[in-house]
Amino acid sequence: MTSYAFSSRSIEKTHALGVTLGRLIDHGMTITLDGELGSGKTHLVRGIAEGLGADTDAVNSPTFVLMQTYPGTELTLCHFDTYRLGDVDEFLAIGVEEYLHDDSCVCAIEWAERVSEILPENRLQVRLTQTGETQREIELKGFGSACEKLVAATRDEGSLTQ
Ligand SMILES: Nc1ncnc2c1ncn2[C@@H]1O[C@H](COP(=O)(O)OP(=O)(O)OP(=O)(O)O)[C@@H](O)[C@H]1O
Ligand SMILES: [Mg+2]
Repeated sequence: MTSYAFSSRSIEKTHALGVTLGRLIDHGMTITLDGELGSGKTHLVRGIAEGLGADTDAVNSPTFVLMQTYPGTELTLCHFDTYRLGDVDEFLAIGVEEYLHDDSCVCAIEWAERVSEILPENRLQVRLTQTGETQREIELKGFGSACEKLVAATRDEGSLTQ
């Protein structure tokens, strides 16, 4: 496991971290996002969408639709939000496993802890903590060699921009 703790001072910094992730991320990867309401999960996903070359205006918490897809330049970002999900079976019923195994997609799952039993072992785990009005601690943990490399590369870029 490789980890990196990023301190964000503003929405723009959170967005910029997302853009870096979106640029570096590889096909088939899964990103899990956990943290209280308003911790910045969706803002980070919007940055990831930009990094992938997708339309960022479309990115909202898909709280009422469970899933949205945003086609990027090469990869499609599949954005899930399990907040209002009844149970894991409901999540499986929308075909989430197909997306998780689809090499042309990157999956981002808000409130991933609610569906922990179906998450792939190899993933980028993100935890956001509100530490002030506009401050957020964003902890990245990469599991599996590809996601470990992703975290290391993000850390290298982040130290230049933070
Ligand atoms: N440094 C920061 N990074 C991200 N968001 C910030 C930051 N500072 C303040 N904010 C505010 O925090 C809120 C984050 O909202 P966002 O929708 O991204 O959270 P969320 O974790 O997705 O919430 P939810 O669980 O409701 O989906 C926004 O209102 C944003 O303006
Ligand atoms: Mg959200």
